[in-house]
This record gives sequence, structure tokens and C-alpha cells, in this order.
Amino acid sequence: MSLPAGLLTANLSLELDLYVHLVQQIKGRKHHMSDSKKHKISVTTDDLTIEVADGYAMIDMCEEHDTSILFGCRDGACGACMIRVKEGAKSLSPMQEDEKDFLETMAAEPDERLACQCKVHGDVVVEVSE
Ligand code: FES
Repeated sequence: MSLPAGLLTANLSLELDLYVHLVQQIKGRKHHMSDSKKHKISVTTDDLTIEVADGYAMIDMCEEHDTSILFGCRDGACGACMIRVKEGAKSLSPMQEDEKDFLETMAAEPDERLACQCKVHGDVVVEVSE
């Protein structure tokens, strides 16, 4: 059994419209991504500056860049990733209760953060905390 020619043409036309719509959405998304804000993370300990997209999780640095910031638990529980924020503290995601509690327990200084808990929303300068 075959479809009438008119029905087959209409079906192909709908599929083509859907395909064109999907391609336009993907192109729009790529354009949007390339236009997204970029920020700089400078790790003075390593004399390294990298450019990242808004919302970049600092924990991703351990897989993407060779820095001295060490990551252990990756969950805010071990303190291995403690950093000192030299500039741009307000450009990092706000501290959550778990991070606050941990840093308080460690008697951390006010400029120290756990890198695994930070997302970047502006330029920051950090160093490994000792
Ligand atoms: S990696 Fe353990 S606290 Fe950040």
C-alpha cells in the first residue's frame, strides 16, 4: 500500500519544516553561547590566568588546567581546595551554609573559600591558601 502523492508531499514538507526549525534553534544557541560573558580567573600561585564562561565551576579547573589548587572530596568536606581570594570576592557565588560551617570549623580567614564550592561570575584573583 502506498500513500497518495499529495499526502506524501505534505508529510515531507512537515519534516523539512521541523528540520529547519531545529537547525535554527541550534544555531541560535551556539550564537548565544559565543556571546556569553567571559571572566578571568588568575591563580597567582601558578602565574596563570584563564578565561572562563559565566557560571564556570572552579572545580572544573582541576580537569581542564594545570593549577596548584588541589581537589579532594569535591564536596566541601576536606579543605584540600582552600583558596585565598585576593580580588573579586563578590564575583564568586555566595557561600552556602555547609561551606560557612566548614570554614568556621577550620578557623579560616574571611578571604578564604573552598574552590570546589565556587562558581565564577566576574574576574577573580586567587592563590592557594597555606
Ligand atoms: S575538594 Fe574537598 S573541600 Fe573542596
